[in-house]
Amino acid sequence: MYKYILGIESSCDETAAAVVEDGKKLLSNIVASQISTHSKYGGVVPEVASRMHLESILPVIEEALAKADLNFEDIDGIAVTQGPGLIGSLLVGLASAKSLAFSLDKPLLGVNHLEAHISAVHLENKVDFPFIALIASGGHTNLYIVRGYTEFELISKTRDDAAGEAFDKAAKALGLGYPGGVMIDKLSKSGDRNKYKFPLPLNTKKSYDFSFSGIKTSLVYFLKKNEVKNENDLNDICASYQESIVRSLLNKTFNAANEYHIERVVICGGVACNSRIRELGAGFGKENDIKLFYPSPSLCTDNAAMIATLGYYRFRDGDLSQLNIGAYSTLKTKIVRGQKSFSKTGQHS
Ligand SMILES: Nc1ncnc2c1ncn2[C@@H]1O[C@H](COP(=O)(O)OP(=O)(O)OP(=O)(O)O)[C@@H](O)[C@H]1O
Ligand SMILES: [Mg+2]
Repeated sequence: MYKYILGIESSCDETAAAVVEDGKKLLSNIVASQISTHSKYGGVVPEVASRMHLESILPVIEEALAKADLNFEDIDGIAVTQGPGLIGSLLVGLASAKSLAFSLDKPLLGVNHLEAHISAVHLENKVDFPFIALIASGGHTNLYIVRGYTEFELISKTRDDAAGEAFDKAAKALGLGYPGGVMIDKLSKSGDRNKYKFPLPLNTKKSYDFSFSGIKTSLVYFLKKNEVKNENDLNDICASYQESIVRSLLNKTFNAANEYHIERVVICGGVACNSRIRELGAGFGKENDIKLFYPSPSLCTDNAAMIATLGYYRFRDGDLSQLNIGAYSTLKTKIVRGQKSFSKTGQHS
């Protein structure tokens, strides 16, 4: 019987632990963010990230248990991010989870961070299967057909930059700091999104692949040729740039839902916090008669509640990891449209 699952996440610049009951009830969700440290450097510094994870991991786990009002003995299983992510960072979470599993004699499960981003939606919504899921995060822009709690089929991904990366790099070029998505979203609210035209990448129904390096480059060239005149102009640039990214994400996602005759769409990952994707997405949903779901913003960016949730469903399927599992930095998956493309571990096809 798996009731209380401890989730541990350390794939990038958040050290997180959470306890989830029965795959649904969030008992605690602790996130120690390193953003203020990395923002000085304009992006995540991997070596600094691993060292900070080392300092925070045990206090964060202890706090998650205390908030859940549980002891280590009460936990029925430990789920931990195995990849993809920064290897040094992943190893801190993985080694901690293995040590706890070994010393407490508890079952261990290494889970895929991206599949977990999707699983976050189950904490707040009842979404029938199948559904189309878009992950738009700092490192990935992937589209899946999700056929069950542990069945994920990758149907497309970005050919170059991720959507979050396009926000972050644009913010850097505009001198707005890191992470860029939040700042661009904020300034866009006072901007005119029709003022400038940035290209809509791969805007064709023939492909679900995403591409964001062209739009980023077009902004860089724009800034070489034009001066940012004033605050209003900066807001207009942000709003116009954001509009292209958001429309590209929504066009592809809803095209896929229509082609596969799937009436439910889930949008997750950090970029799902974006206010324009939520606003415009609602319109796309109505127009296409498709129900749209998002996790709450705190469950869209990195957290361990999503790790515990996916862990719960995989433990329930009978999956278990050995104590010798390793971390993996990238997702090695084949895209096979409409067919199962990778195993439940999410590691390889
Ligand atoms: N309001 C927002 N609008 C647009 N982008 C946003 C917003 N809030 C956060 N982001 C973007 O989300 C990204 C972070 O999301 P997330 O934590 O899911 O990514 P990650 O974990 O670093 O990447 P991955 O999950 O691919 O490993 C950053 O690129 C950030 O700019
Ligand atoms: Mg993430």
